[in-house]
Order: sequence, then structure tokens, then C-alpha cells
Amino acid sequence: MNYDLRTLDFGRILVSPSVLAADFGKLDEEIAAVTAAGADLLHLDVMDGHFVPNISFGIPVIKSIRSRSNLVFDTHLMISRPAKYAAAFAKAGADHLTFHLESDDDPKETIEAIRNAGCTVGISIKPATPAEELFKYLDLVDMVLVMTVEPGFGGQSFMADMMPKVAALRQEISRRKLPVRIQTDGGVDDNTIKTVAACGSDIVVAGTAVFRHPQGMKCAIDNLHNASSLLNSKVGE
Ligand code: DX5
Ligand code: ZN
Repeated sequence: MNYDLRTLDFGRILVSPSVLAADFGKLDEEIAAVTAAGADLLHLDVMDGHFVPNISFGIPVIKSIRSRSNLVFDTHLMISRPAKYAAAFAKAGADHLTFHLESDDDPKETIEAIRNAGCTVGISIKPATPAEELFKYLDLVDMVLVMTVEPGFGGQSFMADMMPKVAALRQEISRRKLPVRIQTDGGVDDNTIKTVAACGSDIVVAGTAVFRHPQGMKCAIDNLHNASSLLNSKVGE
């Protein structure tokens, strides 16, 4: 691991821009720009064309951009066999690996494979999966990811009906006093951030809203950071 999610602040919104919305023809410039604009992590969406109906990028791209960034590489594995590939992603430079509960590999074995590879661990649920299915893993992970779109594509509309899942996870994490972050991914922008923060999600992924913001990346990230004041006060207690 190069950079550690656990060292980042609790109690405020952290922004993880998704490079899926960047111009891949000048990826190093885009990463430099989003870093200068205040990104806290870098969200890397890996899609295998099997777990999701789209293919993005994988291990060689992560390896190439590692030397270009000092941000935590927040790697979102939308792949069928996360346990099988965890070590290879870690070796390429991923710091954090989030896998899907709905993938083919056993969740506990996947968590162990990611820990053994030296990365922090996240588990994600698709829109149809209830939040309660994550409860038994909360003391084993650093982050949970509630998808607010069907995984596979950037630029989709935010699903506000996922917010009760965020609130239920925040309540359970607070009740058990666990140092687990809650990430929200899909359609988060200047407007939807308000409900996301109020429900207790402290790491937000934003692709389109950051890379294609009409007022630029800094304005986009500032707007998301400013929602920290709305963050449920129980976060990080
Ligand atoms: C969707 C990805 C997201 C996506 C977010 O499958 O996991 O990270 O890139 O993009 P926006 O912010 O455009 O919805
Ligand atoms: Zn993602």
C-alpha cells in the first residue's frame, strides 16, 4: 500500500473523483488537474464485461498512473472474481479495493485476500441488495459502498431511493462504534450531495459532476466539500 484511507479525516466529506469521466487521451493531465482542484482520493472503476455490461480499464492502467499521483487509489472492482485478482491490483498500485457482495467469490475469502494483499477493504451493494446484508461484515471492512446507480456506466441519474440504505448503515456503524466509512457512488452532484451528506455518507464518488462541471473541477469539489456541514453529527464518533 502506498497511501492509506484510514489516515484521512473523519467527520467531513471526502471527494473521490471517478476517472471514468476523464479524457483518457490525457489521463495524466486530468489526474494532475483533479488533484490540484482538491480531490481527497482517486476513484478507479474497473469493469470486466462480465459482472457489469461494460469494460473500462484494469491493471496496466493503474500501474501506469501510480507514479503520477499521491492520492489514495480507491479502486472499485466491478468484476466477477475479486479474490482472484486482489493481489495483482495491489501490486499495480491500488491502495484500497472495494468488491461487490454480489460477485462470484466468497465475501470472507475476498476480504482476506484483499487484506493479505496489503490493501484496505470495501464492500459494495448494487441497488437491489438490502443494506442489512452488509451488517455481518461491518467489523471486517474499512468502507461500505452504496451504489446510487446500477453499476456499469457513468453519467446516470441518482437513485434517491437508496438513501434509506445509507441511513441504516450509518445508524448501525454508529451503534457499534466502528471506524467504517460509507461511500456513495453514482449521480452525486451539487444537488444530490445534500441528501447524501444528511444520510451520513462521508466519502462521495463523482465522475461527471467533477470532470464536466461547467464552472470547473475546483468549483465542483468545493461544492461537494461544503456539504460537510450537513453530515450527520454521529459520523466518526
Ligand atoms: C458506475 C461507477 C461510478 C461512475 C460514477 O458504475 O461505479 O463510479 O463512474 O459516475 P457519475 O458520477 O458520472 O455517476
Ligand atoms: Zn465506482
